[in-house]
Amino acid sequence: MKKMAGILVVMMMLMLMIGLCNASEAPGVYEIKRGNFCAKFTNWGATLISLLVPDRHGNLADIALGYQFVSEYTNDTSYFGSIVGRVANRIGGAQFTIDGIHYKLIPNENKNMLHGGVIGFSDVLWKVTKHESDRISFSYHSLDGEEGFPGDLEVSVSYAIVAPYVLSIRMRASSLNKATPVNLAQHTYWNIGGHNSGDVLSDEIQIFGSQYTPTDDNLIPTGKLVTVRGTPYDFLEPQIIGSRINQLLPLRGYDMNYVLDGGKKMKLAARVYNKKSGRVMELSTNVPGLQFYTANYVQNVTGKGGFVYQPHSALCLESQGFPDSVNHPNFPSQIIRPGKTYKHNMVFTFSTR
Ligand SMILES: *[C@@H]1O[C@H](CO)[C@@H](O)[C@H](O)[C@H]1NC(C)=O
Ligand SMILES: *[C@@H]1O[C@H](CO)[C@@H](O)[C@H](O)[C@H]1NC(C)=O
Repeated sequence: MKKMAGILVVMMMLMLMIGLCNASEAPGVYEIKRGNFCAKFTNWGATLISLLVPDRHGNLADIALGYQFVSEYTNDTSYFGSIVGRVANRIGGAQFTIDGIHYKLIPNENKNMLHGGVIGFSDVLWKVTKHESDRISFSYHSLDGEEGFPGDLEVSVSYAIVAPYVLSIRMRASSLNKATPVNLAQHTYWNIGGHNSGDVLSDEIQIFGSQYTPTDDNLIPTGKLVTVRGTPYDFLEPQIIGSRINQLLPLRGYDMNYVLDGGKKMKLAARVYNKKSGRVMELSTNVPGLQFYTANYVQNVTGKGGFVYQPHSALCLESQGFPDSVNHPNFPSQIIRPGKTYKHNMVFTFSTR
């Protein structure tokens, strides 16, 4: 009897230890590849941590900024490679009204909310729901009231190599019980010359957006749609990124939402070319906006191999809805009602010239 009780105590302790281990599960690293095209991810923030792409001579470089150790992502304040939400970009005054109900969010950038709040989707552990040689899927259940947002939301992201040098990203979100804004973004910092090759100012970019949404001093849209023609935002024809960047005061950098031509169809959004390596990156997407950001706030960030990232050391092509849409009835709606599914597709295609 005594022996039985002893075994029972040991078993209970074992079960408790397994339980504790699960509760404090550490972020893992997951790889997908086809040939020499290889991507790594962590389930912390459903984050892309590296992508190997050949140059015109076949030499591989890792073209995504990131950290040496996966544990460092838990300290990140730049959103390196992560999925950002429930609502990427800014919500002015950290509040909105849906169907006459007023919601107050938790502000994390002055009075506004940026990238989903203090603990957004980039700051949580996602579940790995599928992992095969060339694809991986993550899911996350966001609770009603999380950061102030209404309703439970089931979120997933799938990364897949669908052809040689083609990475597809599919983001989905289903509202389970309340109408809520949803605007997910994939926040990789790209430097197609190599993550440790310096700044992207001499790269060429073309952005297929004839209009942009100008902002106030706090980067909240005024609500206007303005033509890019005659402004430093005009990339309808390929332009060197740094050619007009000093006209953009006080930032001396791009951090702007483009209204993509073609609306909610799948269409080409942007093309980047790095002359030195010959690498070309193209992004196609089905969402109406593209935030073009030149890593203006990245300063002295120690990354992979001890390389220190500085302003303009990368560019982000954050396809998404327009910023603060929930407070601008003239912007495409981001409200997802129960039973409806948010669908955001991105396709990155790499080649060389
Ligand atoms: C996070 O940052 C703190 C403060 O700078 C540091 O002490 C800690 O080691 C960091 N954690 C990781 C996992 O890098
Ligand atoms: C970055 O590092 C430089 C050189 O050590 C230093 O002068 C500067 O103040 C640092 N900037 C920030 C924001 O930490």
